[in-house]
Amino acid sequence: MSATTILVMNGPNLSRLGKREPEIYGSLTLDDINRGIAEAFPEVRFEFYQSEYEGALIEKLFEIEDRGGFAGVVLNAGAFTHYSIALRDAISSIKTPVVEVHLSNVHKREEFRHKSVISVVCAGVIAGFGVESYHLGVRAILGRG
Ligand code: DQA
Repeated sequence: MSATTILVMNGPNLSRLGKREPEIYGSLTLDDINRGIAEAFPEVRFEFYQSEYEGALIEKLFEIEDRGGFAGVVLNAGAFTHYSIALRDAISSIKTPVVEVHLSNVHKREEFRHKSVISVVCAGVIAGFGVESYHLGVRAILGRG
């Protein structure tokens, strides 16, 4: 049997983790986070992707959907979470389950972060646990298998 494959995808500004508002997002870089995920789940095959661009994130979702065999996507869409109807429609159009994750507890922060336009088409939402949010996202996907 082939290994479970999961895409961990990050949107805009998450390439700056480590340097970006560490008091909110922590001091680890995105590479540190991705390495930690791979180490925590050695039985899983991961692909990692980050883009600052909405269209690139959408294309990646279509790519993995068409390639097939992905158990799910752990997605931190960054600020696109709050307003990208295009990303919402892309998630809605694919069968691969997507778990929405956030490092910070968006509900404790500015009001504009309280609304997610993608939650309604995601399998579930995890927010506020720092790096652990990604790990919980992976667990959620494995639990569905
Ligand atoms: C974030 C929360 C978003 O509101 C913000 O725009 C981000 C990061 C988080 O991981 O906490 O870029 O998704």
